[in-house]
Amino acid sequence: MACFFRRRIAEKLGRTLKQPEDAFIPALSAVPVFKKQKTADFKLSVSTLRTEGILPSSGDIQLQTENLATQLKQDSVVEHISADCGVINFTVNRKLLVQKILEPLGKQEGEKFGLDSELFSTLKRGTTLVEYSSPNIAKKFHAGHLRSTIIGNFIANLKQSLGNNVIRMNYLGDWGMQFGFLGAGFGQFGCQEKLKQNPLQHLFEVYVRVNKEAEHNEDMKQAARDFFRQLEQHESQAVSLWQQFREITVKEYHHVYKRLGVHFDIYSGESDHQDQAQKVVEQLQSQGLMKTSEKGTGVVDLSPDGDMSSVCTVLRSDGTTLYITRDLAAAIDRKHKYHFDEMIYVTDKSQANHFHQLFQILLAMGHSWADRCRHVPFGLVQGMKTRTGEVVFLEDVLDEARARMLDNMSQSKTTKEMDDPEGTAEKVGISALIVQDFKGPLHTDYKFDWDRMLQAQGDTGVFLQYTHARLCSLKRRNEGIESSTLDPSLLLEQTSISILQHLLRYDEVLYQSAQDLQPKHLVNFLLKLCHLVASAHRELPVKGSRQDLAKARLQLFSSACSVLANGMRILGITPVDKM
Ligand code: ARG
Repeated sequence: MACFFRRRIAEKLGRTLKQPEDAFIPALSAVPVFKKQKTADFKLSVSTLRTEGILPSSGDIQLQTENLATQLKQDSVVEHISADCGVINFTVNRKLLVQKILEPLGKQEGEKFGLDSELFSTLKRGTTLVEYSSPNIAKKFHAGHLRSTIIGNFIANLKQSLGNNVIRMNYLGDWGMQFGFLGAGFGQFGCQEKLKQNPLQHLFEVYVRVNKEAEHNEDMKQAARDFFRQLEQHESQAVSLWQQFREITVKEYHHVYKRLGVHFDIYSGESDHQDQAQKVVEQLQSQGLMKTSEKGTGVVDLSPDGDMSSVCTVLRSDGTTLYITRDLAAAIDRKHKYHFDEMIYVTDKSQANHFHQLFQILLAMGHSWADRCRHVPFGLVQGMKTRTGEVVFLEDVLDEARARMLDNMSQSKTTKEMDDPEGTAEKVGISALIVQDFKGPLHTDYKFDWDRMLQAQGDTGVFLQYTHARLCSLKRRNEGIESSTLDPSLLLEQTSISILQHLLRYDEVLYQSAQDLQPKHLVNFLLKLCHLVASAHRELPVKGSRQDLAKARLQLFSSACSVLANGMRILGITPVDKM
């Protein structure tokens, strides 16, 4: 596979330049396929070798490239070497290319394809805690929470595939004044019956109503403050109502996450850290890190010159803690409990400053592991609406995606004998949501567009699923002819070679995603794979071809199918076999 060739080329370079071969791995990359044109397979960037100090950084780079290219000898694996504008191109033996890629993919360990690459040999593996989704009880589940859910799930899947021990955590907004309102309001506007029937809806309704009431009703506001104080003082009646709200909500979310293919190892929440937050305040005080402001609040000075030009409030004047104080306590508690090697928080970019301050304060407190905490920010989604209006709950989005997809499927001729059209529509609809979200850089905002994301032809999740289903059906229809012997000389057309060359890049794409935690590399790789497969479907028929040719082509298609499915799963998409 990819690493076989990369290794061989690195060995060659190592021998010629008398350097350890590993030094060349980062400078070597598979050449991206462009419109099925004939290209080399790997390229070596000479300027990278110069910045790495492997080659002298003075002198004419083109000359240096040509010199190195002539020093490198061709052999039976690397058949052609050429120099071109600071880059050395390597073309490997075609039959070997076919063999080295298709063989591992035809075996059971095909799931490991790309993941056992030498690119990952220096990668540190350990425990990664990923915190994502983290909605607020009784409030809206907005587009930001949906983004956090699918992005966090992708990061957790990727880290796990690369051999890390991953802890998936949901950190619920289950504490704060909102529960004062909810608790006080429930007595007046709440109904246990409705709470049982449709918990999320009912809690939200009550919350909205109480807030409205409190706008002009001082008594209501006072009642809310009282309720929250009772809660903070652990008064049993208040606590038990709060507990009921929380339990019902978690149960409900659990169900919706399941539809989305997302799960959590731990449901934590702000409420878990209220007492610890007070301890953090004491600690900040004793370390001399907290000062009292003129307004009587507790602040930590984060200005570089210590002149209080930039401060972070950690304690209200009434002695209650804030969102950040609970986050400080939560981070410290997680480190103690789970001994993570890295922690990743996924939220929209408006919280970038919050996390920056969080990590700064943790460092100031002496928690050096805070520099292994990372915030992955993402942009806003505009216009996430359903046919009935504004989205309030995650379930609304999933229902709408399924309904629209079912509509589209019923109009398509290919949707006939399907066992579970609803389930398929659900999976395909969710892939459409995910691909729309993952196509660009995470920090950019985008406009939610049902019609565009559900197109079967465009670069959509539907296209990924459609290609996967088509490949599966090809495999099903030709079950008898699959075999383990492969004649590589039957797959030398440019159409096959382009697919194989593209597959050579898979480990690099995963590597890139693991570096910057952006799913776009993987999404675009898979979309491109689907385009290449579409031309192969046209140009390399299986049906009606000679037995040995049909076999070889089928192996190519089924390898493409495995990589497609593996990649989709990392993105958080469940591939469908029929649609
Ligand atoms: N519940 C928060 C919100 O909806 C997100 C929590 C993010 N995580 C954290 N550790 N602060 O905005």
